[in-house]
Amino acid sequence: HEEFTKVKNIATVELGRYEIETWYFSLSRKCDLKHPPGDEIYRSGTLSMFEVDGKKNKVYGQNLCYLAKLFLDHKTLYYDVDLFLFYVLCECDDRGCHMVGYFSKEKHSEESYNLACILTLPPYQRKGYGKFLIAFSYELSKKEGKVGTPERPLSDLGLLSYRGYWTRVLLDILKKHKGNISIKELSDMTAIKAEDILSTLQGLELIQYRKGQHVICADPKVLDRHLKAAGRGGLEWLKNPACIYY
Ligand code: COA
Ligand code: NA
Repeated sequence: HEEFTKVKNIATVELGRYEIETWYFSLSRKCDLKHPPGDEIYRSGTLSMFEVDGKKNKVYGQNLCYLAKLFLDHKTLYYDVDLFLFYVLCECDDRGCHMVGYFSKEKHSEESYNLACILTLPPYQRKGYGKFLIAFSYELSKKEGKVGTPERPLSDLGLLSYRGYWTRVLLDILKKHKGNISIKELSDMTAIKAEDILSTLQGLELIQYRKGQHVICADPKVLDRHLKAAGRGGLEWLKNPACIYY
């Protein structure tokens, strides 16, 4: 949709107690809802996740897309929101549920995408919510008995967040596991697509190519070094995946 110029047209967005400066061009409208529509499918402490069907809540879904576009350079502006579910993460207090961020997901993806677009609103960034949202998307894939991968292209911040998540999750398993483990087994355990596991472990130099096969070589000392560098998990938010209910 190149007919739109890339000039930033909306300077700030007001959300709850925050006035947020935007990064890029988008459209946007006023929204008076005090909490997301749809079903609350997860609650832990003050965090709640709402599942919103784009078909039942078209305007809300479109507004979420416009909101994300304010912080994304490469996405197209128009989605057929009917085909998507939106997972909206909120922090709740006595005044209501305040959106922290969200991700969208195609209802049926032939490319096994389990996440289309992800946003953490700037006041909440760098606190682990992005990794929480990513972790949530993989928990949904596990429930479906499928592997998943994010839609490409990823933004720079998106790629950093995914790399961080994949690294954390895979290193935690390798650290605990005794004996050999294959990429397929890791994929079955995590719902992370085999290609993403391979590229992550290759990036960490934990893969050797022997007799025509990729083999994971995880020296405990190397694992410890990588784990230290991998930063905070941010996954502590997803304390109890069993809290995801339908
Ligand atoms: N500078 C450097 N690294 C950053 C970063 C920044 N500004 N923001 C995130 N990261 C990296 C870090 O490795 C971080 O892990 P750490 O804090 O443990 O070191 C990791 O990404 C994830 O951080 P987290 O706090 O879990 O994510 P977040 O809540 O900040 O959300 C995004 C991440 C991508 C959702 C958020 O940056 C965002 O909404 N960006 C704009 C929209 C976008 O680009 N979406 C992705 C589309 S594919
Ligand atoms: Na973090």
